[in-house]
Parts: sequence; C-alpha cells; structure tokens
Amino acid sequence: MTTTLIRGRLLSFLRRPVAIDDTASYRYEEDGGLLVEDGKIAAVGSYADMRAATPAEVEEIDHRPHLILPGLIDTHLHFPQMQVIGSYAANLLEWLNTYTFPEECRFVESEHAARIARHFYDEMIRHGTTTAVAYCSVHKTSTDAYFAEALKRGMCMVGGKVMMDRNAPQGLLDTPETGYDETRAVIAEWHGKGRNHVAITPRFAITSTPAQMEMAAALAREFPDLHIQTHLSENHDEIRFTSELYPDAIDYTDVYAKYGLLGPKSLFGHCIHLSEREADAMSEAGAVAVHCPTSNLFLGSGLFPLKALSRRDRPVRIAVATDVGGGTSYSMLKTMDEAYKIQQLLGERLNPFESFYHMTLGNAEALSLEDRIGTLEAGTDADFVVLDAAATPAMALKMEVVRSLTDELFLLQTLGDDRAVRETYVAGRPMKAAL
Ligand code: GUN
Ligand code: ZN
Repeated sequence: MTTTLIRGRLLSFLRRPVAIDDTASYRYEEDGGLLVEDGKIAAVGSYADMRAATPAEVEEIDHRPHLILPGLIDTHLHFPQMQVIGSYAANLLEWLNTYTFPEECRFVESEHAARIARHFYDEMIRHGTTTAVAYCSVHKTSTDAYFAEALKRGMCMVGGKVMMDRNAPQGLLDTPETGYDETRAVIAEWHGKGRNHVAITPRFAITSTPAQMEMAAALAREFPDLHIQTHLSENHDEIRFTSELYPDAIDYTDVYAKYGLLGPKSLFGHCIHLSEREADAMSEAGAVAVHCPTSNLFLGSGLFPLKALSRRDRPVRIAVATDVGGGTSYSMLKTMDEAYKIQQLLGERLNPFESFYHMTLGNAEALSLEDRIGTLEAGTDADFVVLDAAATPAMALKMEVVRSLTDELFLLQTLGDDRAVRETYVAGRPMKAAL
C-alpha cells in the first residue's frame, strides 16, 4: 500500500453555493491534510489531526501556501480538434465545413490518433483537468487511441465514437449500421476498463439521418447507464437547418426527445437559444445543458443564460466546458473567466464560489459521478489540483492586496491559466512534474 500525506489549503464544495457568503456550501481548511492511500482519499481534515493519526514514516508533501482543490472537470471538448483550435471562421457551420471536418478526417490513421492523444492528455494535466468528456472522431481508431491513453495515465475519462452519416465529407461518414456496430465494439472494449466511461455520441441532428438516430436510440435503450452527448441549439442557422431536416419535431430539443436521447445522463453542448418549452423538457428529463463560454464567444454563437436557466421554477442542470477546438482555451479557469463576462453582459452575477463549484463538484454532479470525483471527501478518487494564485508576476502583484479567499479565487479565475497549476494529481500520483 502506498500512503502519502498532502498538506496545503484545502477547498472543496459540499453543494452548490446559493450566495457569495454561503460558507456552509464548502469546506475550507487553512492548514489541511489529505491522506492518500492507493489512489483514494483515505481521510481529510486539519493537518494537525491527520498528522496525529498517520504513522510517522508516511511521506509528506507540503504544498503550502497553495490551494488544493478537487481536479478540474471539463464536460465537453473534441479530442480531434487540437489542430483546429484558433481557426478563423465567421460562424459554426463555416468553421465546421472549412476547418473541422477536414481535420477530423485524419483520425482514420491510428498513428496520428495516438500522437494527438498523447498531446491531449499532456494538455489536460498541464491545465489541472483530471476528468474530461470528449468527442472522438467518427473513426473507431480515434476512440481506441483516446481510451488507451486514458488507461495508461489512470485517468477517469468519458468519451465516444462520433456517429455521423450525412452533411459531412465522405471520409467522415459512417452508416446507421456501422455507427451502431462500432459504438457497441467501443463499449465492449473500453467501458469500465480502468476508469473509462463510454458515451453514446451522435454528433448533432444535422449530421445524423433519422435512421442513424434510431440506432442511437437503440443503443440508449440497450445501455441505459451510459452517458449520451450531442449538440443542441448553438447557432441560429443550425437551428433552422435542423427544423428543415426534422419537420415533424416541434423544436430542436424534441428531435432528441423523439429518439429517447433526453435523460439524466444526457449532456447537450451549448443550449444557448432554448425556448421555455425546451427548457421545461430539459428540466423534466434531468438533462444537462453544457455551457461552453469561450467557444460561444469565439464562434459568435450567443450568450448562454446560465443564471436564468438555473433559477427557473423548473431549473435546468448545468455543466461547464471548454469545447476545444471551438473553444479557445484548455483552461477551466479561463473558461469560467469568460462565463463570468457572459453573465455580466446579461446583467447577472456569477460569484467566484459558484465558478469553482461548477469546475469541480458541479461538473461531477452533472456527470452523476460525484461519488468518485469533484470532491475531497474520504473514499473518493484522489484526483486533485494545486493552484498558485501568485503564479505570474502580475498575479503576485495583485496577490499583495488580496485579503480574502473570495478575492483569491476571483484572481485565479481572472488571471489564471496553466501557469497557476502547480501540480495535478491523478489517483494520488503527481502528473504535472513528469510532463
Ligand atoms: N456542432 C456539431 N459539431 C460541433 C463541433 O465540433 N463543435 C461545436 N462547437 N459545435 C458542433
Ligand atoms: Zn462541441
């Protein structure tokens, strides 16, 4: 058994903060101890209590004065878009057709997929992201590379082979049958192996025929515990085209509902322009709207009403994500920086505790994985991140006048990025130093 005592300022959430002074929503230990045993958190508390309860020979790692939080979680991004990020396009559909689809075609080559997978996990670790939910490409080779690398690194990852059988280049199309068969093969080979979770992944209504949606529906019936991920209501032209392709659906959300894809394990990227009816349907189903702020601004898609959706009588579950390569940063700190600015433009406030809740426990709850990740509670997986709010000269200067945890978190979110991540622990192992 390997045991380590980690010392630092511990911050983790117990539930969603309802206000900036909701101190009961989180646990903060100014001098905390985290006892890690065989990849799990064995105990957590004050350093003094943990030290007293731990044999003297147990190795100790002191991260003071830095903050230790649960590993950050990114609930929507595209593994084959690492060389798409930062492509100059006017809007979603132009961006997909001009840059994204041609680039994803390259993932038919397993060597290319394996190389990008190595870079992908390096980038996750560099940015303090210990769990991510990714779209692979349509090719099974890409999904194999994605999960093989996750297994090697011991990371808890969700991902899926994209299903798409129309409105894209030939090299990026499957068929209803091959989409179904290959997704089944991916589930058989990877789901539950290590910490891997397979998601059923029809890209979006525009790139799947009704026949393929039937196959996605069949998979959802056969594997009701799996996550489902797709895109919903990101862009006005996309919404219009979808209504032409599915004239019998009352709206975009109804397309997915008709195929049994609207449920508590369903993750819908974007959801910017939902009607009240659609928000009600999402709420009733317990489906999750995944907010991708850097992507929404970059592609000019719109301003996601995060606060309005979460305070409805019938609230919509919300997750946050980078959406690389539509998104412009791998950093969940930068992501929440942009989420904050979007709420500002909508006349709403997003306080720093809510932001850090969303990056950690909030996203774990959105994935129904809060019993394993997104927290520092005893018995959960030892995925955590060490953050330094004085990581750059500009941050250090500002830190001179920071007097509260609230202000420190807000500084981390506003000026922080991968440079603020001092270490990323996956299942108790420090991964960043080894990059
Ligand atoms: N809608 C369908 N595919 C994509 C994608 O790859 N990125 C984004 N942002 N939206 C999509
Ligand atoms: Zn996306």
